[in-house]
Amino acid sequence: MIKNIKGTKDILPNETDLWQYVELKIHHFFKKYGYKEIRTPSFEDSALFHRSIGEETDIVSKEMYSWIDQGGKSLTLKPEVTASVVRAFNQHNLGHENKINKLYYIDSLFRRERPQKGRYRQFQQFGIETMGSDRPEQDAEIIAMAHNLYKFLKIDGIVIKLNSIGSSDSRIKYKKALGDYLKKYENDLSDLSKKRLQTNPLRILDTKINSEIDIIKQAPKITDYLDSEDKQHYDKVREYLNELEIKFIEDPLLVRGLDYYSRTVFEIHSDSLGSQNALCGGGRYDCLIEELGGKSTPAIGFAAGIERLILALDKEKHDYMQNPYIYFVALGEKAIKCSLKIIDDLRMKNDLAVVTDSLNRNLKAQMKEANKLNVSYSIILGENELKDNKLIIKNMSTGNQEEIAIDELSFFFKNNIK
Ligand code: HAM
Repeated sequence: MIKNIKGTKDILPNETDLWQYVELKIHHFFKKYGYKEIRTPSFEDSALFHRSIGEETDIVSKEMYSWIDQGGKSLTLKPEVTASVVRAFNQHNLGHENKINKLYYIDSLFRRERPQKGRYRQFQQFGIETMGSDRPEQDAEIIAMAHNLYKFLKIDGIVIKLNSIGSSDSRIKYKKALGDYLKKYENDLSDLSKKRLQTNPLRILDTKINSEIDIIKQAPKITDYLDSEDKQHYDKVREYLNELEIKFIEDPLLVRGLDYYSRTVFEIHSDSLGSQNALCGGGRYDCLIEELGGKSTPAIGFAAGIERLILALDKEKHDYMQNPYIYFVALGEKAIKCSLKIIDDLRMKNDLAVVTDSLNRNLKAQMKEANKLNVSYSIILGENELKDNKLIIKNMSTGNQEEIAIDELSFFFKNNIK
C-alpha cells in the first residue's frame, strides 16, 4: 500500500468540520479590517525566494522543494507567501490602483523541515500583507489583528514578542558589532554558523543549538544600534500597543528567520504547543517591494500556521460540527420512489441538508444512523403513511413525533427552522 509522504498529513472527514470552521472565522475576521483575499500559484520561479528570503536562511539553504522543469527553469513549491504576494503586487501594479493595499491569504506551503508535532513539510498558513504605509499605527494594527484573532478564537495563554531590527543602515552597524563579538567564539560555533559569520551574522541568531544560544545571550543587542528615526518608530509602536492594552515582551534577540525584515518584527507564542510554540510571526519589510523590481513601497504583514492554531484551540469552546439537518427514512419501493422528489425539494426549495439511506436498510438501522449523524429531525415515510399521503416527523432532541401531510412538509420546516 502506498502511504503519504513523511511530514505531510491527511485531514480526515472527522477533522474537516473544524478546519472549515476555523477557515471561515479567518475570512470573516480579516474582512472586519477591510482586507481582501489574494491567491497566488503554488509554485514560483526559484529566484523569487532566493532573492527575498535570502541565501543564508534555513528556508533557502536547506528546506525548499525545488526542481528543474522540462523547460529547464528552476521552480520551487512556495515555502512562504510574502514573496509571492510582493511579486503579484509588482506584476499587476496594485500600488498604482490603490494607495494602500490590505491583502490576506490562506495557503498550503512546503518546507523540508524535520517533522514533529506542529511542524510539517506541507502545512497551511493564513496571513496578511499591507502595502503602502510606513506609519507605526499600521504596525500596531497588524500586531493587534494577530492578537485579536487568537482572542476571537478563544485561545488563551499567548505571548507577544516584539523587537525592532532597524533600517538597513542600522543593521549594517549592528552586523559588524555582532560579527566582532561572535568572532571570539568562532571555534565553538557549528559549521553553518561559521559560514554565516562570514556572510550574514544576523542569521546566527536563528540558531537552535543550545551552546550557541548561550553565546548569543551576551551578544550586542540590535536595539542599541537603532538610529533616531528607527527609535521614534519603535517608541510609537509600543505606545499604540499600550493604548490598545495589548501586552508584549520586548525581545532584543528576535530577528526572525527571513532576510527581508526591517524595523518592527514580532512573534506570538503559546505555552500549550510544546517545542514548536510559534503560533505566528511577522514584521515590516520596507525594502522588499523595490528589491523585487517594484516602486519603493513600505509594507508589513504576518503569517500563522493553521495546524498550530488548531492544536492550541480548545474545541470545547466552539460549536463547529456541521451535522445534516434531516435524516429521511423511506421504507419499501413505493416510499423510496415517492421520497426522491420530496427530498429534492427539501434541499432545493427549503435549502436544507438532508441525508438519506442508499443501502435499503431497515428502520432500526436507519434510525441508528440518524442518531450517529446527530441530525435535528428524522422523517419516516413507510407504506402506511404513504397510503394516507402523510409522513412522520421526529424531533431528535425532544423525541416528540407527529404525523403531517406530505404537502405541508415545506411549510413545517419554514416555521420550525431557527
Ligand atoms: P514564518 O515565521 O516562517 O513567517 O512562518 C509563520 C508561521 O507559520 C509560524 O509561526 C508557524 O506557525 C507556521 N509554520 C512555519 N513553518 C511551519 C511548519 N513547517 N509546519 C507548521 N507550521 C509552520 C513567514 O512565513 C512570513 N512570510 C510571515 C510574514 C508575513 N512576514 C511578513 N508577512
